[in-house]
Amino acid sequence: MRQRLIVCNWKMHKTAAEAAVYLQQLSALVPRADPIEVVLAPPFTALHVVGQSSGHPFGLAAQDLFWDDTGPYTGEVSAPMLTALGCRYVILGHSERRQLFGEDDAGANKKVRAALRHGLRPILCVGESLSQRDRGDTENVVRGQLLRGLEGLSKEESRTVTIAYEPVWAIGTGRAASPEQITATHQTLRSTLANSWGSETGEQVRILYGGSVTPDNVSAFLASAEVDGALVGGACLDPHSLAKIVACAQSSQR
Ligand code: 13P
Repeated sequence: MRQRLIVCNWKMHKTAAEAAVYLQQLSALVPRADPIEVVLAPPFTALHVVGQSSGHPFGLAAQDLFWDDTGPYTGEVSAPMLTALGCRYVILGHSERRQLFGEDDAGANKKVRAALRHGLRPILCVGESLSQRDRGDTENVVRGQLLRGLEGLSKEESRTVTIAYEPVWAIGTGRAASPEQITATHQTLRSTLANSWGSETGEQVRILYGGSVTPDNVSAFLASAEVDGALVGGACLDPHSLAKIVACAQSSQR
């Protein structure tokens, strides 16, 4: 049985000092995460606040990395730098990176491999634009992003990956996908994983939904057996709102 996972993508929000206050408030509201897993993904500059403070039940993720370990890459951060701060996960191929910073599937693939080389678990984001959905291209788009993003991975490596289905049109818009749309796309992703990397990968990989997830709609998404958790943006910035999402995930645990 796949353990439920809630990943909180802070995007470019909160200074290190604000992160410390948030962590204190959240720890009081969510003293234990069991039986689900809760992972915080602050900006690079606040990773150390979460990574170095003990006594909370949250895992740590980075929002991106660069694929080489060291070198002349001004502004970039590598996988060994992230593991040294206590990161266990890294979000890769987010649609904001693809849209605003020109990231493509080949780049996401190099990053996935770099993460795996250093024992970091990649959370690969895939998702269609509104025009792609309107053209009926959703399945092709997400299948292609998945296959190119994970190209060259062994079966063992593929099982350590998490996939986040984030339709571009649902991110930050207040217009989440419907449980039916999410279930259908997750089925496509899971069957693609099973066809390419075998049935164990198909069964073990967690597939999250992201895009305007809130305390009010998360239970409806988690009711689907195809949804293993959520990648939450705006609603995780307030610790009270995140605590409600975690409580919904805990009470809907299968
Ligand atoms: P919102 O929850 O703000 O729509 O963001 C989703 C997202 O992009 C998480 O990675």
